[in-house]
Amino acid sequence: PRDQDLLGVKVVVSAGPTREYLDPVRFISNPSSGKMGFAVAQAARDRGAEVVLVTGPVSLPDLPGMRVQRIESALELRAAVLEAAQDAQMVVMTAAVADYRAADQLTEKQAKVAQDLTISLVPNPDILAELGGSKGGRVLVGFAMETHAGVERAAAKAQRKNADFILLNYPTQEGSAFGGDDNQVTLVRPDGTSEAWPRLSKLEVAQRLLTEAAKLLPAG
Ligand code: C5P
Repeated sequence: PRDQDLLGVKVVVSAGPTREYLDPVRFISNPSSGKMGFAVAQAARDRGAEVVLVTGPVSLPDLPGMRVQRIESALELRAAVLEAAQDAQMVVMTAAVADYRAADQLTEKQAKVAQDLTISLVPNPDILAELGGSKGGRVLVGFAMETHAGVERAAAKAQRKNADFILLNYPTQEGSAFGGDDNQVTLVRPDGTSEAWPRLSKLEVAQRLLTEAAKLLPAG
């Protein structure tokens, strides 16, 4: 039924974690596997889209039939996504972007000392919010992981970032954990309306996401 409904549509997908280096060998990161983003990229490709997949460090191999750009830090992710998004009609931000990076990145390995260590962190830019700030005609989709008040918080996030919708999941819920092959998400719109989807494979979540996002593309 979906066939080639994204033919001629450029889709940018971000995936995986970011790494925020403290020194050349240590970083702050998170356990994002990249599977959700890779599934979105694969599904979009199969529906005819021109796909750019920008991914943080994950153990997944490149997907054929698209441009795969590997980055490490949030700042690198930002540069790659903003560049690729310029002539895109859809951006799906599945990346688990680190909220903070080190205020100063040491160029030499930090020696161990027998004292407490304080690290200064500064906030990373919010890429989705930046895209939302100059939205143009683009369809913008985000993900959010919440431990409580999920729908309210995700709706507020969608509003603040000017995203068309956010797929909300809960880290604690069975079938939603980092790294799994399934996901149980709730689609949340900025107006607070939501739809809970059943537990599905990440590829099926990706297909539904694209079906919802495709409805928002300008006709033509
Ligand atoms: O605010 P929060 O991190 O929960 O928002 C999650 C959504 O925003 C995801 O789609 C994520 O990729 C995106 N995001 C971003 N830049 C950040 C943080 C999150 O684009 N610095």
